[in-house]
Amino acid sequence: MPELSDCSGYKYLRDSAYNRETIRQIKRPAIAQVDTFKRYPDAEKIKLPTDWTLKEARITPLLQKRRSLRKYESESVTMEELAFMLWASQGITAKSGHYSFRTAPSAGALYPIETYFSANSVEDLPPGLYHFDVENFSLDRLSTTDSAEVVANACLNQKFMAQAAVSFLWSAVIRRTMSKYGNRGMRYILLDAGHVCQNLVIAAEATGNGACPIAAFYDDEVNELLGLDPEEETVLYVAAVGKRVVKQKQCSV
Ligand SMILES: Cc1cc2nc3c(=O)[nH]c(=O)nc-3n(C[C@H](O)[C@H](O)[C@H](O)COP(=O)(O)O)c2cc1C
Repeated sequence: MPELSDCSGYKYLRDSAYNRETIRQIKRPAIAQVDTFKRYPDAEKIKLPTDWTLKEARITPLLQKRRSLRKYESESVTMEELAFMLWASQGITAKSGHYSFRTAPSAGALYPIETYFSANSVEDLPPGLYHFDVENFSLDRLSTTDSAEVVANACLNQKFMAQAAVSFLWSAVIRRTMSKYGNRGMRYILLDAGHVCQNLVIAAEATGNGACPIAAFYDDEVNELLGLDPEEETVLYVAAVGKRVVKQKQCSV
C-alpha cells in the first residue's frame, strides 16, 4: 500500500511549494490565457431578476461589501470578534454519532483543516501564535513572540500583512482525508480549505473587519513557524484580517 509521500496528490503539493531559494528559478509552463467569462452567443438569454426581496437577507450586504482588504485601522480586534470568526470558520454546530459537524462543509466530515493564527492586535490576548482547539472551543497558546513581521515575511514579504490584527494560517492534516480517499482526497482537502476561508471572510465582514486571502507563502517557512511536520501536515492558506478603513466604490447588481 503506498504511503502518503508516494501518492501523486502529496507529490503535487510538495512540487508546487514555494521556497525562498528556488522561487526565482520556477519555470511556469507556457499555458495560453483564456477569457474570464465563458460566452454562449447563440444561446437564448434569460435575464435574471435583481429586485429580490431576498436582498433583505442579512448575508446580502456582507457579500456585496466583501473586497480583499489590505489596509487596516490600528484598532484591535476584540476577543468576541475573534471567537466569532473562529466559530464561523470551523465551529462545531451539530453532533451525530461520532461525528461533530461544523459550520463549513468537509468531504466525508473528516475535517482535515487545522486553524492557527498569529495575534498581533487582539484585545485581551497577548501577541503570539495560537492554535484553535475546535473540540473545546478554546485556544492553545503556542508562542508569545509577536510573529506579525515573520508571517508577513514568510508570505513573500507582503508588507501589509504585518499591519493586520490577526493572520489566520490554515494547515491540512493530509492523512485525515487521503487515508480514506487516496489521491482524490487532495482535491477535497483544497476544497475544504476554500470553504473555511470563505466562512472566515464573511464573518470578518460581519464584525466590521475585512480580510485578504493569501496563498503566496514559503511553505516550509510557515510549516516551521507553526512546528508542523510537513510529511503529515502542511500550510495551505492564510488570511490577514483587520479593521476596515477604506470606503470602496460598490458596484450593485
Ligand atoms: C486562492 C487565492 C489566493 C490569494 N492570494 C493573495 C495574496 O497572496 N496576496 C494578496 O494580496 N491577495 C491574494 N488574494 C486576493 C485576490 O487578489 C483577490 O481575491 C482578487 O484580486 C479579487 O479581489 P476581491 O477579493 O477584492 O474581490 C488571493 C485570493 C485567492 C482566492
